[in-house]
Amino acid sequence: METVVLKTDPIRPDRDVIRRAAEILRAHGLVAFPTETVYGLGAVALFEDAVERIFIAKGRPRDNPLIIHISSVDMLEQIARDIPESAWRLINVFWPGPLTLVLPKRPDFPDKATGGLDKVAVRMPAHPVALELIKETGYPIAAPSANISGRPSPTRAEHVIRDLYGRIEAIIDAGETLYGIESTIVDLTARPPILLRPGAFPVEDIEKVLGEGIRVPPFARGLSEAPIALAPGTKYRHYAPEAKLILIEPDGGQQSISASIKEAVSILRKRYRKVCVIASRETYAQLEGEVDALFNVVGSRGDLYEIAKNIFGALRWLDEMGCEAAICEGFEERGLGLAVMNRLRKASTLRLKAGRLDELELQLISL
Ligand code: TXA
Ligand code: MG
Repeated sequence: METVVLKTDPIRPDRDVIRRAAEILRAHGLVAFPTETVYGLGAVALFEDAVERIFIAKGRPRDNPLIIHISSVDMLEQIARDIPESAWRLINVFWPGPLTLVLPKRPDFPDKATGGLDKVAVRMPAHPVALELIKETGYPIAAPSANISGRPSPTRAEHVIRDLYGRIEAIIDAGETLYGIESTIVDLTARPPILLRPGAFPVEDIEKVLGEGIRVPPFARGLSEAPIALAPGTKYRHYAPEAKLILIEPDGGQQSISASIKEAVSILRKRYRKVCVIASRETYAQLEGEVDALFNVVGSRGDLYEIAKNIFGALRWLDEMGCEAAICEGFEERGLGLAVMNRLRKASTLRLKAGRLDELELQLISL
């Protein structure tokens, strides 16, 4: 299949591009488009054949449901039922924006996109191209991240082209996405609400508006698998690069991350020729010229927005470099750090605490 790449300005979307992409969607085609988080792969949520093609194009298991993207609150009423007052409070403050709400699904809304569940995940993206496209199409759009299943989410059209070119009708290229990490998903059908996936809006900010606590289960921190009924997607491998990735987590500030990274590089270099490191600017400043590895600097430790924005690109960079083994610096689980650590834990082959590398050599044998 020939894939067309349609370029547009992200702030003032080109009318012709939007019209052409909407036509493709209405003709049951697939269009990858930018949102404020990552690029999504869209199909009209009501067209079961089109939604089926999303699962095929991505190689995604059919029981992993898709988020439904809307451009107006009216559309929400066609999709969800019994919308609680707490949902309206969040919608008023955070939509359009990177907050996905899980709500009871209306029985008459097709369940191909929701994997047969009676709950549905909905969000209104804060990106002019995404909003215009949904509006012009006139239907809610089902859209997972526009990557091959299991790969890091795409933050640039080039990432989408690499993964999906030839498998979909069109890609709208509007440059790099703003947040670079996916939306925060909160299940409002549970009491108290449950964080299913940390994302671009910190859970602390959402709790303030909600006026109550949100339960953060271990799987939302990337520490374990979720019960399938609650968060169907978490049982699948995610975000993983080809390289063996070793995540070194901070140990309450007692142990120096940079000393541990230096030690880990020297251990990895005994087995692997090409070793890469994903690290903060601060760590890089301490290790520059001291270690035999290629560095990807994702941002300052004090600016988790910058780190979140660059993390998927860095994971893809490992593959572009043909890296065999890599080390990634871990971050504090505050604010956006929770979303970053969720992604890194899922992407990693092995997790270690700073200062606790004594077993690394042994563990490498079994990787
Ligand atoms: O920022 C985002 O959310 C991006 C952009 C494109 O909007 N989309 C995205 O979609 O990240 P995806 O499919 O890559 O991740 C959606 C996650 C999956 O883990 C899925 O299991 C979960 O949302 N999900 C979808 N519907 C659900 C439901 N009804 N109940 C529980 N989890 C659901
Ligand atoms: Mg995804």
